[in-house]
Order: sequence, then C-alpha cells, then structure tokens
Amino acid sequence: MIPYSYRDNRLFCEETDLAEVARQYGTPAYVYSKAGITGNYARIDAAFAAAPHLVCYALKANANPALLKMMAELGAGADVVSGGELAQALQAGFPAQRIVFASVGKTDAEIRFAIRSGILALNVESREELEVTARLAAEMGMTAPIALRINPDIDIEGHPYLTTGKSANKFGIALEEARAAYLWAAEQNSLKIVGVHCHIGSMIKKSDPYHRMAETLAAFVADLGKAGIRFEHVDLGGGLGVDYTKVLGEQGSPWFMEPEEMAAQVIPVLQPLGCEILLEPGRSIVGPNGVLLSQVLYRKETKGKKFLVVDAAMSDLIRPSLYGAYHAILPLQAGGVEPETVDVVGAICESGDFLAKDRELERLQRGDYLAVMTAGAYGYTLTSNYNARPRPVEVLIDGATHSVIRDREPSLF
Ligand code: LLP
Repeated sequence: MIPYSYRDNRLFCEETDLAEVARQYGTPAYVYSKAGITGNYARIDAAFAAAPHLVCYALKANANPALLKMMAELGAGADVVSGGELAQALQAGFPAQRIVFASVGKTDAEIRFAIRSGILALNVESREELEVTARLAAEMGMTAPIALRINPDIDIEGHPYLTTGKSANKFGIALEEARAAYLWAAEQNSLKIVGVHCHIGSMIKKSDPYHRMAETLAAFVADLGKAGIRFEHVDLGGGLGVDYTKVLGEQGSPWFMEPEEMAAQVIPVLQPLGCEILLEPGRSIVGPNGVLLSQVLYRKETKGKKFLVVDAAMSDLIRPSLYGAYHAILPLQAGGVEPETVDVVGAICESGDFLAKDRELERLQRGDYLAVMTAGAYGYTLTSNYNARPRPVEVLIDGATHSVIRDREPSLF
C-alpha cells in the first residue's frame, strides 16, 4: 500500500491534505504515514508467519523516536549499528533480547555496552573483533552472545555503495575463515554462539540473491552442525528493494519483490535447520511512507537550463547527491499547468546540491509547495547541519490527524 493520492488535484497522505501540513509546520518538513509504516511492517511479519522468525527493524533507515516506539509496540526487534543506535532502541522500548548489533568497527565501549545490555546477538565482522569481544566479556565476567557476519561473495548487481556481500567489500568474514572462527569461539567460555548473520546489500530487486544466500547459510549451518556447533537463528539481513518510481496508491506495490516472494524463496531452504529466521528490513518499511515537503523560493534560468531553487537541500536529503538516486517530485497542488524540464536545487554552496536533474515537472512558481517522494528511509538519518542549516521538522500523519514527532532544529538567527 502506498498512502499518497491526488484528490481534486491536491496531494493527500492518508486523509490529510499535505499543503495544510506544509502551511501549518513550515518547510522543509519530513512527513510520515503511520498506517503505511505499520502496514509494511505487518506485511513482512505476516509473510514469514510459517516459520519462527523475528523482524528486526534497521534503525539506520529512520530512527525517529516516535516511529521506533510504534515499531517496538508492534513486537518488532531492532537492528543497530552503533552504541548510539543501541541506546535509541532501548529508549524506544525494544526489549534487549530482540536487538542485534552489526558494525565493522565496534569500539570496546560499544562492545561492553552491548554485552551489559543483554542483547540478542553481536554480529561480529572479523576474527580480531571476535577475539576482542571474548576478552572484554571475560573481563566483565559475562558471556557475549555472538553471530558471525558471513560475506558470501554474492553480487546483488546494484549501486556499488549499496553492495556489501562481495569479497571486495569491508563487511563480514569469508566462509572458510568463519568456519575456523566458529570452532575457536565454541571453545571460549565468555562467548555463546547464537546465530549466523549475512547482509549482502541494500536495494535488492530480485529474490534470487536471497535464495542463494539462504542456500549458502543452510549448507554452512549443516556443516558446522557436524562439528557440534548449534545455531539458534539465521539472520538474512535487510535489503528488500523499493521502487522509487511508484509513489501513488494507484500505482500498486512499492516493492520490487513482494515479501511473500522472498519468504517463499528462503523458508523452504532454512526450515529444515530448525533455526529462527531473523530479518533486518529498513527501507522497505519506511521508505515509501515518507515525503520531504519543500517550497519553491526562486525560478532561475541560465543558458539552456532552468532551475527551481527550493528550501530543501542536500543537507535535508543527500541521496540524489550521494548516489545519484532518483526521487519522484510531485506538486502539492497539481493544476494542469504546462510541464517544463528543470533542475530542482537547494541553497547549498555546491553544484552537487540537487534533488532532481532534468526533471519534467508542472511549471511551479515562488511559494508553491512540492513533495520529494519515497523519502522515509535514509532521509532524516543522513541529514546534516552543513551551511548552518537546522534539521527539518518531522510530522506523523494518522488518518486525518497530524502531529509533530520531532521539532525543527532552532534557527541560529
Ligand atoms: N542490516 C544491515 C547490516 C545493514 O547494513 C543495512 C543497511 C540493513 C540491515 C538495512 O537495509 P535496507 O533493508 O534498508 O536495505 N544510505 C543508503 C542505504 C545504506 C544501507 C546500509 N545498510 C541509501 O540511502 O540508499
């Protein structure tokens, strides 16, 4: 379900006119749909109902405290990548026993915090990190629950920055090395092997890489089983891709592959192991359920190029600048005005500061509002104060009601 639609040419999120939200709270503003987010979580959770499983929401996609609380109340687990995110997850009410922690560079303080908190698993990414974890746990007189992050050398054929499961990437441990590391871990009193972890990348568009990953992990778990090592869970990571060209309810599903299709590819492979299946979706839950509202400041024309200068910039949404990512842009008031081709740019002192290039848009004027679509994931979490710009306000829509879930940062002037 995509919660956006035009009614009488005005863009709505659920039952709320987005122009009203823009006028009331100002722009730039991140606006999220409660029904959309909870609905996507429930859909992924239900797709895996046939197997014991836990959906650990990846906080890095969007860690607004109100959204996290919503997710925790639905029974979700959490996937965190830093001590800061672990603290955010605990504060939001995720039980420690539902939290997994992956990071290629955990500090000693982060490892101690994770052990002390009693989380479900530290997803360990190198042999040296494993040894440090064992030593720190022993010094604390505690046991660290660990899963090794396997790098299965599977290509998701996506953007190089979003691929993590190739041997050229910094993430995880190669299969052979992981085997030896597990055998070593099994002998350490301060370590408890709880699972095995894999995350091969983000924006996965087909179910085949998941299938291959499940097969690799199943063979690995079976092999180590012969050596007496038991796993309680198999963690498949996140990565379910979102179609950024589908932004209105009438366009159907926002996903490249339905969660049921992914489940059908992996459950039969993993079920014989008798392990719980963990998933770490981020983008697929929040991405299609957030927009960045902005207002046109100026129109500007140079030789052969038209610019729409708006009040949102790369400090508010860096994806177009960083990955050349496409985000659809829609006017909040569509009026049958002639389309034109424009670059939509922000105020920041960089030519890389753009939200869209050579985009066909209805002709907009100073004061008009627009929505940058599919901005719910990796939007606010990647904001910065570059050029001394305050971070935007965040608003949650629930049917016809709306409320601020994080204030705009105060202006410095
Ligand atoms: N688990 C781990 C270990 C991860 O590293 C990630 C994402 C996820 C789960 C969640 O992946 P998702 O389901 O959201 O695809 N900033 C980039 C995306 C970076 C993804 C990093 N890791 C973007 O804006 O596209």
